[in-house]
Amino acid sequence: MDKKSGLSMEKVIVIDFGGQYNQLVARRVRECNVYCEIYSYKTDIDQIKAMNPKGIILTGGPNSCYEENSPSYSRELFELGIPVLGLCYGAQLMMLLLGGKVEKASLREYGKTEVHVDRTSPLFSNVEETTVCWMSHNDYISRLAQGFSVIAHTADCPVAAAQCLEQDLYAIQFHPEVLHTVEGTKMLYNFVRGVCGCAGTWRIDSFVEESVRQIREKVGDGKVLLALSGGVDSSVAAGLLSRAIGRQLTCVFVDHGLLRKNEGDEVETVFGPDGDFDLNFIRVNAQERYYSKLAGVTEPEKKRKIIGEEFIRVFEEEAKKIGAVDFLAQGTIYPDVVESGLGGESAVIKSHHNVGGLPDYVDFKEIIEPLRDLFKDEVRKAGLELGIPEKLVYRQPFPGPGLGIRIIGEVTAEKVRIVQDADAIYREEIAKAGLDRSTGQYFAALTNMRSVGVMGDERTYDYAIALRAVNTVDFMTAECAEIPFAVLQTVMSRIINEVRGVNRVLYDLTSKPPGTIEFE
Ligand code: XMP
Repeated sequence: MDKKSGLSMEKVIVIDFGGQYNQLVARRVRECNVYCEIYSYKTDIDQIKAMNPKGIILTGGPNSCYEENSPSYSRELFELGIPVLGLCYGAQLMMLLLGGKVEKASLREYGKTEVHVDRTSPLFSNVEETTVCWMSHNDYISRLAQGFSVIAHTADCPVAAAQCLEQDLYAIQFHPEVLHTVEGTKMLYNFVRGVCGCAGTWRIDSFVEESVRQIREKVGDGKVLLALSGGVDSSVAAGLLSRAIGRQLTCVFVDHGLLRKNEGDEVETVFGPDGDFDLNFIRVNAQERYYSKLAGVTEPEKKRKIIGEEFIRVFEEEAKKIGAVDFLAQGTIYPDVVESGLGGESAVIKSHHNVGGLPDYVDFKEIIEPLRDLFKDEVRKAGLELGIPEKLVYRQPFPGPGLGIRIIGEVTAEKVRIVQDADAIYREEIAKAGLDRSTGQYFAALTNMRSVGVMGDERTYDYAIALRAVNTVDFMTAECAEIPFAVLQTVMSRIINEVRGVNRVLYDLTSKPPGTIEFE
């Protein structure tokens, strides 16, 4: 979607110097109802100027700005008449470029720290005089650039924040974007809504409205094809496209028989002919086809590959029936774009399959990615706005290969039934205990281990189910979640009683690393 058209109304630019909280900065700004995008520090200043931002934020980063080859920026940035806020590394760089001095501190300041602020500064309006902030720095500003004055300090840091009122330049040593900075969002609000004068028009309902207009304009009377997985992103993309272009959209939903219990039917209820959305819905029941391809295969990578390739084949067959389409739609979201290194500067974490590598097996002219500018929580809000049921909008993350990688070893229809039933019980009990929104990701997996048990007076020799629950911020690392023992016991006893073929339930305590979240 063309970023420079409708969505450009009022924008703040975040210039990324590689810090770990950079996506958070953008999210917090959006929480202030101000639209904002992340760009690498390598982005040319003319490009930044052309975007006509109302404000610019320089992020933190892992380097020392006084070292050779550390990330820098043109000094001209501070002469554009656009307010600039530097955070941590960004603050130090601003000071250095404008003639101040930055040095290594004798003491590293790290963690929650009491900061004393000057409440007359526009940045700290309505902030408590002494407020807890998150510090994480080795270097400090030892001399201010000309025109700047100190507006905050701590016991160890003489310049915790500084400003040059005449030029609307602000430097903060701590991290307002992190929740440990108690009044951080207020400070960012003061900057974007106060100093930059943004009206705060970024709202999800206006996003939906604007996107619908843009999609209509772009698509005209063309045909759009979307692979609907039933996950949050593709479902919201389907809802949005349906609102914009109705039956010009065809959604192909491949049921590979590796979905959670009843999931295929749930997706069909929402998007199928009796659902609330105006679109062409094709459900392909490919269960048997998948099971026969997977028969006898035990190696995890091979299983993943088969599932992926078969998906392409099924999708391709359906696409051929439909004929050439003008657009192939994808549910790419903003973190996918940033993580692929196309937006910001933070380390390239994974090269997302939706970005960069376009499928060449469908005959289409152009790609359309209506959620490309949204963070996950915004995607969910858009989903609710579009009338997609909460159950679907707050769905757990679910891997593309589905239960195929939650069944260790060979996949069979019988094993799929076992893991589906056990997982449904686990999810039901977690929800009953009110833990469903607070637990990051949780599911049951079927181990390939059978062991001896006793039921009634009978000897059993059945499978062990493993329960997994993790908390995670970014899915790159994760900690085992502490599900109360009583809940686990209920789940265990229900699984043993209700799921034929299981006589043992285990709880997985492993964090990531060294484990992964999924089992294969
Ligand atoms: P791991 O197992 O790598 O999982 O720790 C991290 C997160 O990614 C999900 N996951 C996948 N998602 N296709 C996906 O779309 C995949 O092949 C895949 N493998 C893992 C997993 O559920 C977790 O949220």
